[in-house]
Amino acid sequence: WYKTQENMLLVISMQGGKCRNQSSLVRLTGTKYSCGGGGCGACTVMVSRYNSTTKAIHHYPATACLVPICSLYGAAVTTVEGVGSIKTRIHPVQERLAKCHGTQCGFCSPGMVMSIYTLLRNHPEPTPEQITKALGGNLCHCTGYRPIVESGKTFCVESTVCELKGSGKCCMDQEDGSLVNRWEQMCTKLYDEDEFQPLDPSQEPIFPPELTVRYFTFVNGRRSKQGERTTWITPATLNDLLELKANFPKAPLVMGNTELGPSIKFKNEFHPVFISPLGLPELHFVNTTDDGVTIGAGYSLAQLNDALHFIVSEQPKEKTKTHRALLKHLRTLPGAQIRNMATLGGHVVSRPNFSDLNPILAAGNAAINLVSKGKRPSFNQSQLFSYLQWHFVFGLRMAQRQENAFAIVNAGMSVKFEDGTNTIKELQMFYGSVGPTTVSASQTCKQLIGRQWDDQMLSDACRWVLDEIYIPPAAEGGMVEYRRTLIISLLFKFYLKVRRGLNQMDPQKFPDIPEKFMSALEDFPIETPQGIQMFQCVDPHQPPQDPVGHPVMHQSAIKHTTGEAVYIDDMSCIDQELFLAPITSTRAHAKIISIDISEALALPGVVDVITAEDVPGDNNYQGEIFYAQNEVICVGQIVSTVAADTYAHAREAAKKVKITYGDIEPRIITIEQALEHNSFLFDEKKIEQGNVEQAFKYKSLKGSEVHVEGQEHFCMETLSILALPKEDKEMVLHLGTQYPTRVQEYVAAALNVPRNRIACRMKRTGGAFGGKVAKPAVLGAVSAVAANKTGRPIRFILERGDDMLITAGRHPLLRKYKIGFMNNGVIKAADVKYYVNGRSVCIILYLCEISLCFASTQVVEFIVLKSENAYYIPNFRCRGRACKTNPSNTAIRGFGFPQGTVVVEAYITAVASQCNLPPEEVKEINMYKRISKTAFKQTFNPEPLQRCWKECLEKSSFYARKLAAEEFNKKNYWKKRGLAIFPMKFSIGIPTAYYNQAAALVHIYLDGSVLVTHGGYELGQGLYTKMIQVASHELNIPQSYIHLSETSTVTVSNGVLTLGSMGTDINGKAVQNACQTLMARLHPIIRKNPKGKWEDWIAKAFEESISLSATGYFKGYQTNMDWEKGEGNAYPYYVYGAACSEVEVDCLTGAHKLLRTDIFMEAAFSINPALDIGQIEGAFIQGMRFYTIEELKYSPEGVLYSRSPDDYKIPTVTEIPEEFYVTLVRSQNPIAIYSSKGLGEARMFLGSSVLFAIYDAVAAARRERGLAKTFVLSSPATPEMIRMMCVDQFTDMIPRDDPSTFTPWSIRVS
Ligand SMILES: Cc1cc2nc3c(=O)[nH]c(=O)nc-3n(C[C@H](O)[C@H](O)[C@H](O)COP(=O)(O)OP(=O)(O)OC[C@H]3O[C@@H](n4cnc5c(N)ncnc54)[C@H](O)[C@@H]3O)c2cc1C
Ligand code: FES
Ligand code: FES
Repeated sequence: WYKTQENMLLVISMQGGKCRNQSSLVRLTGTKYSCGGGGCGACTVMVSRYNSTTKAIHHYPATACLVPICSLYGAAVTTVEGVGSIKTRIHPVQERLAKCHGTQCGFCSPGMVMSIYTLLRNHPEPTPEQITKALGGNLCHCTGYRPIVESGKTFCVESTVCELKGSGKCCMDQEDGSLVNRWEQMCTKLYDEDEFQPLDPSQEPIFPPELTVRYFTFVNGRRSKQGERTTWITPATLNDLLELKANFPKAPLVMGNTELGPSIKFKNEFHPVFISPLGLPELHFVNTTDDGVTIGAGYSLAQLNDALHFIVSEQPKEKTKTHRALLKHLRTLPGAQIRNMATLGGHVVSRPNFSDLNPILAAGNAAINLVSKGKRPSFNQSQLFSYLQWHFVFGLRMAQRQENAFAIVNAGMSVKFEDGTNTIKELQMFYGSVGPTTVSASQTCKQLIGRQWDDQMLSDACRWVLDEIYIPPAAEGGMVEYRRTLIISLLFKFYLKVRRGLNQMDPQKFPDIPEKFMSALEDFPIETPQGIQMFQCVDPHQPPQDPVGHPVMHQSAIKHTTGEAVYIDDMSCIDQELFLAPITSTRAHAKIISIDISEALALPGVVDVITAEDVPGDNNYQGEIFYAQNEVICVGQIVSTVAADTYAHAREAAKKVKITYGDIEPRIITIEQALEHNSFLFDEKKIEQGNVEQAFKYKSLKGSEVHVEGQEHFCMETLSILALPKEDKEMVLHLGTQYPTRVQEYVAAALNVPRNRIACRMKRTGGAFGGKVAKPAVLGAVSAVAANKTGRPIRFILERGDDMLITAGRHPLLRKYKIGFMNNGVIKAADVKYYVNGRSVCIILYLCEISLCFASTQVVEFIVLKSENAYYIPNFRCRGRACKTNPSNTAIRGFGFPQGTVVVEAYITAVASQCNLPPEEVKEINMYKRISKTAFKQTFNPEPLQRCWKECLEKSSFYARKLAAEEFNKKNYWKKRGLAIFPMKFSIGIPTAYYNQAAALVHIYLDGSVLVTHGGYELGQGLYTKMIQVASHELNIPQSYIHLSETSTVTVSNGVLTLGSMGTDINGKAVQNACQTLMARLHPIIRKNPKGKWEDWIAKAFEESISLSATGYFKGYQTNMDWEKGEGNAYPYYVYGAACSEVEVDCLTGAHKLLRTDIFMEAAFSINPALDIGQIEGAFIQGMRFYTIEELKYSPEGVLYSRSPDDYKIPTVTEIPEEFYVTLVRSQNPIAIYSSKGLGEARMFLGSSVLFAIYDAVAAARRERGLAKTFVLSSPATPEMIRMMCVDQFTDMIPRDDPSTFTPWSIRVS
């Protein structure tokens, strides 16, 4: 925010005080910057303004990244620092978010705090619905939202925590006590509500009185401000505005800036003059008369919402049909922040194609009053009111996500009938997102005048509207056949709604719609999620001070919520610091013919342009290229960087670097293209048992191909690096990475210095999920080269779009299989081949001992080794290969397991369908049941698997709910329910032993305080918190004595990766080892003075010259895998679980709603149940979104389109299960620390229970329609895929295109 808005005179209030210059603002770093486009809410602040007419203060949330500083004239802004801080007083919102475990990486937390805080300023006793609504514009990628909502719900009057659906009763209070008895010794309290400070609204900072004086409340004369390149003018009156507009006809009106801001930032729009009439009273009014309502263009969408609600409550129903249609859309379009910033005028003008309101306004006959200099029309009342009884207006929409997502297709439709009849007198149908503007199906409507509202009319209407509104096959945005289907599916919904309305007007004359069609009428409601988390109670004999096993809050949680946790871009400016902006390849495979940097170098503030020639050491290290030289091998590869005094200057200059390319063939984007070109990265990985060929004598099934698409990490903190050159060729890098050792190695290679000159320091990072394993090393080298060349510190913070492009994502996968099975569902043989879309170069990793394409190799190995999941198939062959392609993919949570195992479930489901058996029965038949060997001959005991499976079946009431779903499906034709239950066997760690080692360093200082360091990294998973728990347990001192500051290559050398769920396992053992060494040294002293205090013992030890520092080391689990033989003890141990999900699918739109999820996860002994449950829930939601809504779109040339939250949808709070139950199942795991288990990644896969529940629902729809039993439901099961699988008369009606006649806008890369 502050970075992009420079040199402005400020007359605004911050945190209740007045700020008049930039320097007093810049140190407020609590507000986070993640997407820059209003889509994530990380930058939420509260804006307060005094309204001199109502004499009221209006508080509203705003996304700071889109608020121009100049627009804040007269406003008070409260950032997270103004809410509370550790230094002064923590606010109850901050405290409860932290204590309810609503933070993990913490990068979203200040935004969450501000959204809840602003709500409480307006509604100190909110309803749960208001909490969910307030959080709709805030994204969190770690927690899965449940604990965040729960923290908000603690402010609600009704006790809602642990409340069962609408019953108002806690499940634990059930009269028969059944749940309590069955879950004896289980706890459900992850925090203690009694500890919470009460909310006292009288303690909030007051609105600065000086901002209520006349000067600030309305415009007193024109104001203007001249910037470096632009002028900002605030007109005094409407006439003044018209004057200005006449003088500067091209100048935009800045209202909410929610359209203009992103266009300037991301589409290179430039405007030398801005006119800002936002505060003009002439644009802020609502005029309601008997003839209709006129609303000022300056009304925000939130104000519009309130005004319409008021009118609806005052006016008779028949007069407010358009109002109600608008209200329905206003609830879900953007989040609360954007609704409060965006104006009605801005919306109508700037959203010709994607507007959600314009089609309804058009269908409701709204008129726009246009004013310009000299031309001032009388303000006619627009005709939002309809006086007719026989008139219906509806708004319809379908989006990738229920809330905060642009519509894929939307519509506003209205029909008037001759009084008392169903004869059409007037019909209007307007569609959005089907063309460059809102499109009217006027011809169709004209042709239908005089027709009866009946099935024949509908059928003609569908045919004609498809003729009239044509979406070309290569249309931008893709999903062409789906969008065509939606045009008529939405029309059908309108038809049904009107028929229902007619019936309600005259039931005798107009029969109601069939009962089975009723559920087609309404969209899914937005419910406030709820659930229960169960875990083992701590042994009552455990000393109270010992924190192991307790749900201890994340070590940094309070700092997260107060904004005091420091991330890379929060670090203070360093003298002489430069900002780096990258220039990336726009071609997938091309020769670099020339790079012209002259224009960029000439721009103000530019210090240097860095290219491959500036790399003093290896530019191509182990196959990884830092700055592209001669050739580019994927879109998004860094070719050069610009270093400048500000980021704005660097970015402007980067646009001026001219690179000319010559394309090189082949350009391989998809797996299919790679197979055609025989393009692979390394030899196939294979495991095999039994005699597969012979076993195919059983009934066999050659499955169709299954495609699993990729996934973006979408870490809320983008990849960020601060590189500081020092003396003696030293370089210090502050960064967020899962693998500092690798960064150190690459930087040393790029600079041609020994590794001992390179220090990587890491305190925390705003999410990682595998995305910060490999790429930080490359970007570290890129930054270090820039720092080395310029001799100045370099700050390299990737913009969201660059981050998504450069860091790349999960490997897309293609699977082919053949299965041999018996009629009773027993699978006798499986032959499965996996191909992943890899990347274009092979990296040689570690000591040149093994040639690996790091992430791709790991992913293929993981897929092959884990591909059997929980099933024993006696004759099993699994082969995997990574394709050499021109995208560049990398590791992400689960490392191939989520892609690979979904395939296993796909063939189990296919076998079940062939045998006419329920899938859960086939799963149970084939599941491992006793001590067994995996297909690669590792012995394991699946007893916990069986326990999780049985508990899940029983406690989710699976069979009863399945019956209920079947009943529901019988009664509903257009909505279907589906359930799926999954077992899971997941192996933790990496099959290479040396990746499992860890080291730690523990110092005890003379005051008794303890500093712990180790080789693992805090990614939000709570590793540091658990390490403090371990040290506290081992040293037998309270946690408050122990500090864990950061991870650094200086304190612990050669640390391995933090991934594979191994962080706590291996670092815990190292910390334990160091602590035990220290305790052994202290033991004689303690023995001599057993009643002494810790401090006394330490003082004594020093006197006796006993070292109070110790290193700890864990050699690692001795895992191995012999790929020649296909055998090994690949993993230290297995983790088991089961999940059951239930969904409801809207067959007409493809939308789905996740009704309930139950997870039973074997946790052995959980060191920290709050953190473990947080990981389970977060990973489940991440998995669920991977299998359902997240979709990366590539052009046929390999350009990634999805580069912002606008076009890549991670779930919001409305996507999580309405009911979410998580239970940690106790077991033993003697080989791990305190008999715990690593739980970080496994649940990703359990999200696929949602995919297969969708499959079940779609199968029910297809059965009813008499369609083929088996069908391919690839991943992700997007609304598009769901809709197109629910084949019906509408999908049959749409025009289809011959694929050979056009090039599609986007392609599938799996
Ligand atoms: C994260 C996000 C999510 C969104 N989700 C949705 C969604 O789901 N559905 C949807 O429909 N929309 C959505 N939007 C779009 C949003 O509704 C529009 O951006 C917004 O309404 C524009 O209003 P504004 O006041 O911010 O316009 P500005 O950005 O301030 O102005 C936009 C343009 O309109 C012109 N303009 C503004 N007011 C007037 C006026 N009174 N007279 C003449 N010209 C004027 C300006 O000159 C400028 O060119 C979303 C936007 C964001 C950022
Ligand atoms: S950074 Fe402002 S909304 Fe994402
Ligand atoms: S805690 Fe919400 S994004 Fe990490």
